Amino acid sequence: MRILLIGNGGREHAIARSLAKSSSSDILFAIPGNPGIGQYCECIAISSQDFKSICNFVVNSKIQLVIIGPEVPICDGLTDYLLELGIKVFAPNQKASLLESSKKFTKEIALENNIPTASARWFNRYHDSVEYLKEIDPPYVIKADGLAAGKGVAICESYIDAENSIKDIFNGRFGDGQSILIEEFLNGEEVSYFAISDGKNILPLIGAQDHKRLLDGDNGPNTGGMGAYCPPPILSKELENKIINQILEPTLYGLNKRGISYKGVLFAGLMIKDEEPSLIEYNIRFGDPETQALLMLLKSNFTELVLDTVNGNLRNHKIEWHEKKALTVVLANKGYPLEYNMNSEITGVEDAEKNPNIKVFHAGTSLKEGQLIATGGRVMNVTSTADTIKEAREDAYKAIDKIKYENKFYRKDIAWRGL
Ligand code: AMP
Ligand code: GLY
Repeated sequence: MRILLIGNGGREHAIARSLAKSSSSDILFAIPGNPGIGQYCECIAISSQDFKSICNFVVNSKIQLVIIGPEVPICDGLTDYLLELGIKVFAPNQKASLLESSKKFTKEIALENNIPTASARWFNRYHDSVEYLKEIDPPYVIKADGLAAGKGVAICESYIDAENSIKDIFNGRFGDGQSILIEEFLNGEEVSYFAISDGKNILPLIGAQDHKRLLDGDNGPNTGGMGAYCPPPILSKELENKIINQILEPTLYGLNKRGISYKGVLFAGLMIKDEEPSLIEYNIRFGDPETQALLMLLKSNFTELVLDTVNGNLRNHKIEWHEKKALTVVLANKGYPLEYNMNSEITGVEDAEKNPNIKVFHAGTSLKEGQLIATGGRVMNVTSTADTIKEAREDAYKAIDKIKYENKFYRKDIAWRGL
């Protein structure tokens, strides 16, 4: 089969590895890919936002299946263009992607279907939102309605910070025309939960915990994610059932009621308090870096899972997991998520991977005259698998010591909750 993967991060490197492991006879391409993905796929230098060139490539190269990793092309409707060409696509269509691209849409689905979530009010005007702010108590949760690369949420202890966050959003910090949500603050422990839907059935995958803040102890600014591990000990079977019955299934039901069919990964961001889950947000794709850990634990065939999803056949799919723990640490460039150096040489990856339990996924890397260079904010993900989280963590940090580049920066406390 001829398969195209869209994306260029650590998540897509992990997906490429799983595709390659599933079948040696498939022919794999990636747009645009990265040097790690290039170990498994032919990388094509087209932007993941250039839909016209992607569609031309798909037709000319007789691609049969497309897997889209990142949210931006999905929310911009790439799935819909490809479906029109008769191609099978592992990613939801644009209407379904509103679950990630509009927090207001998700809140409406939650409220209409009795899904536990923080209460919220939304506003199109600065004046009205500030008037409402005066009536409520801190901490204030202020959210831009649309996509903001994980940076559109501010949790403010003071009124003045909350007012400034609202000002920023209405001044176009995350693009013009954003409306805002002011939400009730939820206490508890956060968990990510992953499931797949084929439009009719839901197949639960596994949970994970991400580390969104830049610095140890969950301090500093929000990032795309500095590390993750799975499965988290907090996620009991009972809690998993509540997540499926009270949150995921009613969401699909609510989408169906609106005439929207959901095919692809459904990633729920949840707050857990007293063993009760509340929905914080949805993402319409695999998490990055959660996927790097999650796919290490998948024992059954990944390509078959993807095909059963796009063919509406998940009801009969038997998924199997390794009885292990997996953990991934993001190696970043000092300065991320703001400004960073884009030119340091990377060494030691092969040495790090000498331990068979370690896999290094590339995120922001490039090849320059045969030399691997750190060119992105998040550079690599050192992923380890072991019987316990503790062992996985020790192995990962030993491997990290072997990887060298100028301005290497990473959190030293990944999985602290799980220990
Ligand atoms: P989101 O982009 O919606 O995932 O929000 C980013 C982060 O903000 C989440 O991972 C939570 O840590 C935090 N957050 C969002 N909404 C709330 C809420 N209502 N109460 C407490 N924390 C929240
Ligand atoms: N790691 C969080 C995300 O992928 O959105």
